[in-house]
Amino acid sequence: MKVKFSYLQEQFKDYQVYLERIAEVVKAGDYTLGKAVSDFEQRFATLLGAKYGVGVNSGTDALILSLKAIGVGPGDEVITTPNTFIATVGAIVAAGARPVFVDCTEEYVIDPDLIESAITSHTKAIMPVHYAGVPADMDKIMPMAHRHGLPVIEDSCQAIQGALNGKCTGTFGLTGAFSLHPLKNLNVWGDSGIIVTDSEQMRDRLRLLRNHGLQNRDEVVIFGYNSRLDTVQAAVGNQLIQEIDWITATRIKWANKLDQALRELPDAITVPERRPHKRYVHHLYMVQAKDRDQLLAFLQDRGIEAKVHYPIPLHLQRAAYRLGYKEGDFPVAESQARSIITLPVHQHLEEPHIDYMVDNIREFYQ
Ligand SMILES: Cc1ncc(COP(=O)(O)O)c(C=O)c1O
Repeated sequence: MKVKFSYLQEQFKDYQVYLERIAEVVKAGDYTLGKAVSDFEQRFATLLGAKYGVGVNSGTDALILSLKAIGVGPGDEVITTPNTFIATVGAIVAAGARPVFVDCTEEYVIDPDLIESAITSHTKAIMPVHYAGVPADMDKIMPMAHRHGLPVIEDSCQAIQGALNGKCTGTFGLTGAFSLHPLKNLNVWGDSGIIVTDSEQMRDRLRLLRNHGLQNRDEVVIFGYNSRLDTVQAAVGNQLIQEIDWITATRIKWANKLDQALRELPDAITVPERRPHKRYVHHLYMVQAKDRDQLLAFLQDRGIEAKVHYPIPLHLQRAAYRLGYKEGDFPVAESQARSIITLPVHQHLEEPHIDYMVDNIREFYQ
């Protein structure tokens, strides 16, 4: 049996309905910030319970523009975690600031109890990452950020429909950044992203920043960028967003089944604690495994496309050399990098795929 990590062919098997939506854009010649964009922004914001959505051309730009909108630049520091995809840190650097790392929890997200001691007079923002679809501890982070007068920009690129106490990830901070990249839970046919915010002022500034600072055709009020959400991609998003509840629920169903089965192997597999006030949306299903590299090779050999996200934590990447971190600085993130394994849990798997993965993991440890 094959258990594939990518599900893009199945996801868009019935592509005709998407082509019809794109045909509407073409017939209307409505390519740049067209109606499909404002429709998608509205739908996305409503789905999450946010006031506004601002479509941009990637999750990375959603982060960069959020930082630029609050004036982050050279000499500033932004606090985040080394346990993330490179784009979080790259966005901070692209905005001209210095990323300051703090270690993560056993749930793979930023440790809220370590943030305060990383704050300096240069700190300009905090950027928690809802990594792998695990909601960061916003209930602790937000009051602490308020006490220090620091804005929070949430990297929610991997966590559409994640929630804490029923409130969606991405809606706690000043802005929440989302990616619609083909590998994300809500995915379009190329690069795209969206920012949600409850602040009218941020919405207006982000709209300017994504479109050259143009207030209208002839007047430029700030220097900006070209980072518009493509109308064709928004048309794809408007179709797929109708399926997001099913996508999220199916991932949660498979993850729960894996959790239950893998907890029966406590000497070999560590399943993170699942806390009842959090909704985990399992963009990546990650557990820690004894003899990880051997298990990975064994599963891949059996047709299971397991992966590692990621074997090298960001503070130890060559790109981060100038930040001056060294091995041992973030022991939790480092130990997770050595033991983490990602198993497929996407919405196009069936029950036998999950059983097959569990059977093979059991066999490996026997
Ligand atoms: C945690 C995280 N942040 C940011 C991004 C950037 O998103 P994009 O690839 O749409 O630029 C991604 C996605 O790849 C991500 O996983």
